[in-house]
Amino acid sequence: MIANVSGNHIAVGLTGLGFYAPERVLTNEDLAAMVDTSDEWITTRTGIKERRIAEPEQAASDLALPAARRALEQAGVTAEELDLVVVATATPDMLFPATAAILADELGATRAAAYDLLAGCTGFVYALSQVYGAVAAGLSRRALIVGAEVLSKITNWQDRSTCILFGDGAGAAVVQPITAGGIVGFELGADGSGGLDLCVPAGGSRRPVSPDVLEQELQFIKMNGAEVFRFATRVMVSSAEELLAACDATVEDVDLYVPHQANKRIVDHVVRNLGLDPEKVLMNIDRYGNTSSASIPICLAEAQADGLLQEGTRVLISAVGAGLTWGSVYLTWTTRGEE
Ligand code: ACO
Repeated sequence: MIANVSGNHIAVGLTGLGFYAPERVLTNEDLAAMVDTSDEWITTRTGIKERRIAEPEQAASDLALPAARRALEQAGVTAEELDLVVVATATPDMLFPATAAILADELGATRAAAYDLLAGCTGFVYALSQVYGAVAAGLSRRALIVGAEVLSKITNWQDRSTCILFGDGAGAAVVQPITAGGIVGFELGADGSGGLDLCVPAGGSRRPVSPDVLEQELQFIKMNGAEVFRFATRVMVSSAEELLAACDATVEDVDLYVPHQANKRIVDHVVRNLGLDPEKVLMNIDRYGNTSSASIPICLAEAQADGLLQEGTRVLISAVGAGLTWGSVYLTWTTRGEE
C-alpha cells in the first residue's frame, strides 16, 4: 500500500525518542573464538564490528521499558496519558500475552490498548503506519511504539552464517498529533512467497517445540543470505522511489536517510542505486549489528542526540525484513505537539 497523507486533517509526528542497548558487548574477535570466522570477514561482508547481547534473564519487555521511559520523558507525556502501546518484535517475552501488554503494565499505562506486531525488521515502520492511522483518525491521542528484540535468544551461536549478524536492543517513539509537518507518506508491502528465506521454523503451531525440533535446532533463525540480500537491495530501492514519487519529492529533497541496519553492503548498494548522497545516510551497524525492529528507532534516537534531527529536517526511512516485508516512511521532522 502507498499513500501521500500530507493533506490529511490531523498532522502526526514523533514527539519523543528513546533507546536502550544491553551493556554486554560481543566483538568480532569474541565471535572468532566461538566459530570459524574473523573480524576481517565480518567487517568486509557486513560492516559490523560489535553488537550488544542481553543478559540471560532479560526479555524483550526489559529492553523496551527503559527505551519507552526515555521517549515518554522527552515527549513530556506520562504513562497514564497513553491510549495505545504497540510493540514490534520477533522475539516477544512469550507467544502470549503480548509484550505490549506486559510493557504497558510495567509503565503504568493503565488506559492504553496494547498489542504486538510481527513484521520482522520492518516492524517499526509497520507499527508507525498503524499508529499513524489511529492518531490521524482521532482514535488515539498519545501512542507509544517500541521496536524491541532479544535476537541473541533465537540465534544459533554455532552457525557462523547467521550469528555474526544480529544484536539485541530496543528503540521507542511517542506518536501524537502535531501542529504542522510530520508524516508525509508511507509505502508498505509483503511477499510471503519468500518467507522461508528468513524464518524460525519451529515454536509456532506448524511445528511446536519437541525433542525432535531441538535436535534439529529448528528453534533458531534460518536464513538464505544470498536470497535475502537480493530481495533487500531490490525492494529498499523500489519502495523509496515509489514513496518519494507519491510524495512529489526526489532524493535531492531528502536531508537524512535512515535505513534498517541489516548489512552495510545492502545499504551501500541501495544508496548507490537511489543516487543518494552518502553523507546523508545514517549508519550505526558497526556498534549494534542488526537489531531488527529496534534498528530504526535506535538510529533516530542517536541522530537526535547528535543534533541531526532539526525542525524541518526531511527524513526518509526504509526497512526490509522477515515476511518477507518492506516499508518506507517519509516525514518532515517536527516535535511541536498539538496546541
Ligand atoms: N566467516 C567466515 N566465512 C563465512 C562466514 C563467516 N561468518 N559465513 C559464511 N562464510 C563462508 C561460507 O561458508 C562460504 O564459504 P564457501 O565459499 O567455502 O562455501 C563463503 O563464506 C561465502 O558465503 P556466502 O554466504 O556466499 O557469503 P556472502 O558474501 O553472501 O555473505 C551474508 C553472507 C553476509 C550473510 C550475506 O549473504 C548477506 O548479507 N545477506 C543478507 C542477509 C542479511 O543481511 N540478513 C539480515 C537479516 S534480514 C534483514 O534484516 C532484512
